[in-house]
Amino acid sequence: MPEIMANTNNGNYPILIQSGKLDRLGEVAASCVKGRKAFIVTDENVAPLYLGRATESLRKENFSVATCSVPAGEPSKSRDMLFLLFDQFHTAGITRTDVIIALGGGVVGDLTGFAAASYMRGCPLIQVPTTLLAQVDSSIGGKTGIDMPYGKNLVGAFYQPRAVLIDPSVLSTLTRSVMAEGMAEVIKYGCIRDKMLFDSIEKGLSDLEWMIERCVRIKTTVVQNDEYDTGERMLLNFGHTVGHAIEKLTGYAKISHGEAVAIGMVYAARMGEKAGYTEEGTAARIRTLLEKWHLPVRTELSAEEVFEAMMSDKKRLTGKIFYVFLRGIGEASAVPTEKEVLLNRMKEVWNES
Ligand SMILES: NC(=O)c1ccc[n+]([C@@H]2O[C@H](COP(=O)([O-])OP(=O)(O)OC[C@H]3O[C@@H](n4cnc5c(N)ncnc54)[C@H](O)[C@@H]3O)[C@@H](O)[C@H]2O)c1
Ligand SMILES: [Zn+2]
Repeated sequence: MPEIMANTNNGNYPILIQSGKLDRLGEVAASCVKGRKAFIVTDENVAPLYLGRATESLRKENFSVATCSVPAGEPSKSRDMLFLLFDQFHTAGITRTDVIIALGGGVVGDLTGFAAASYMRGCPLIQVPTTLLAQVDSSIGGKTGIDMPYGKNLVGAFYQPRAVLIDPSVLSTLTRSVMAEGMAEVIKYGCIRDKMLFDSIEKGLSDLEWMIERCVRIKTTVVQNDEYDTGERMLLNFGHTVGHAIEKLTGYAKISHGEAVAIGMVYAARMGEKAGYTEEGTAARIRTLLEKWHLPVRTELSAEEVFEAMMSDKKRLTGKIFYVFLRGIGEASAVPTEKEVLLNRMKEVWNES
């Protein structure tokens, strides 16, 4: 079974990847904490599918188990849910020797992670991600948080779990569109760091476990080098600068994050080609692969609108923009780019489509 150690400034923890591993959650928890109380946070879609198995596995290891199921979807990453969890942790008698478990997608992971980070100034946390996006991205790296009425992910903490338990077999119940959203991030990893991964997805890869492991290795390595997101992590943002702008302009509702990133990757690759950074033909390859997954690859929004929204992104800290370009499939770098130059390149690319 692939076991990857994540080494951080705040301790090391294993990332366990194996089909059927959900039924071993109890053993993993018992190896992480001394206490015998567990609190599982999940959502209303995941609860009927996997909460029973998670609970049973914990009980086998003599944990008493309390649970809370929040409504599915982004609105649950809210202050109301956060405080509801604090109250329920209190009622269940959770202490710093017990364990809090996030069983769900990125929404449950981010919310629960932040609740665990702040309850009693930090309780042990195990992430059990159940969407592809959560397995390859959000459960790794220690970013947790909630949304505020005035912006997404504005309040949170860097907080590392004691373990991440990834069971690829739970992905079988995802809808096609939620699976495709995760594939956008998987394809992104291929683009920035792993040509072999990209090639095998092109060939129609069927080994989910292998694919997830490749992505997890990339994310842990990049995060290890840049735990607090000030440098190398930027590469993980390939396709995200344009993607975030599109999400913002469409009010987050009409288009999902993965879809926006898919569009962003194609435009970023094409801009790189125009600038002479990126091998010709790269954008076309990415576009073809995304289309196979029924992901969108173009936007009706104008270059000017998208540029404007990009400039107001919270991640743009200085006057110059570090834009992530590919050399070719599998190799990326962040290139400092003048705003004017960027806008002109965007206009050129937008005019083509
Ligand atoms: N912390 C990070 O580093 C990081 C990185 C990327 C994204 N995120 C966050 O992640 C969130 C998105 O995560 P997501 O895409 O997993 O969304 P999500 O958690 O909303 O899950 C998507 C849908 O799938 C359902 N679901 C989950 N697992 C299932 C399963 N096994 N079978 C059937 N249905 C299942 C959920 O109920 C939900 O309806 C966003 O809030 C985003 O900000 C965080
Ligand atoms: Zn993303």
